[in-house]
Amino acid sequence: MCSEIERLSETLKASHDVLVITGAGISAESGIPTFRGAGGYWRSYDAAKLATLQAFENDPKTVWEWYDYRRQMIAAAQPNQAHLLLASLEDRGKRVFIITQNVDDLHERARSRDVVHIHGSVWEVNCLAERRVYENRQTPLAEIPPHCQCGGLLRPNVVWFDEDLPAGALSAIEEYYRQRKPEVVLVIGTEATFDYIRSFVQRAKYAGALIVEINPAVTAITPTADYTLHQPATEAMRILTGEAV
Ligand code: OAD
Repeated sequence: MCSEIERLSETLKASHDVLVITGAGISAESGIPTFRGAGGYWRSYDAAKLATLQAFENDPKTVWEWYDYRRQMIAAAQPNQAHLLLASLEDRGKRVFIITQNVDDLHERARSRDVVHIHGSVWEVNCLAERRVYENRQTPLAEIPPHCQCGGLLRPNVVWFDEDLPAGALSAIEEYYRQRKPEVVLVIGTEATFDYIRSFVQRAKYAGALIVEINPAVTAITPTADYTLHQPATEAMRILTGEAV
């Protein structure tokens, strides 16, 4: 192991408070496609037709078919070593706060305890008649588009491109920065296309955190990162934690 990585690993080992920001890349090794890279959804699907409120209003069936397909894929997937090793940091007494852009539940299934879904969850639906959000894990869906017991049309409780971020998630993140001071930030498997993702990282960096990016590619975070491990998430997490699960 080169001395720089040894130092990173030691810093992580000695830290008490770790902020983790994840994107589609952390779930790629669980078999869930990313969005922008090779084989990514946006290479073969039009985001404007599947991931906007306008698309849903025009054609809820097509949008729900895509989410039903993704729900089935997520249900069949398992957390990988990167998810598991992140969760194991908590078993070692660290406080770990995860901000994920992923709509899957692989962090929770790996037993991470403090996870904020900034782009929502495929396992929640929102009744458009009652404006009520609740869990729905039926896979495959019996009816597309699905309806609430009240008769109202359901939508996936995810954030689309033409929508605001969920207030609850934003206030949980605000609360986190007010109360805690992460020593290390792990930014794993994201292109960091959105400015708010970059700002979460910048904010911790200004407060003195060491920024470690894990991504085989160069991204919008790479210039901000103190160090980038250009490896798949599972391999990089094994190197950083010095462990296998
Ligand atoms: P992207 O698909 O934009 O980026 C995935 C990143 O993961 C890329 O930088 C890859 O290099 C990296 N990657 C691929 N395999 C990896 C591996 N095994 N280990 C580590 N990294 C790997 O996904 P996000 O940045 O998450 O939003 O995209 C953000 C948002 O854009 C998504 O939440 C979604 C999308 O459009 C909405 O739908 C609103």
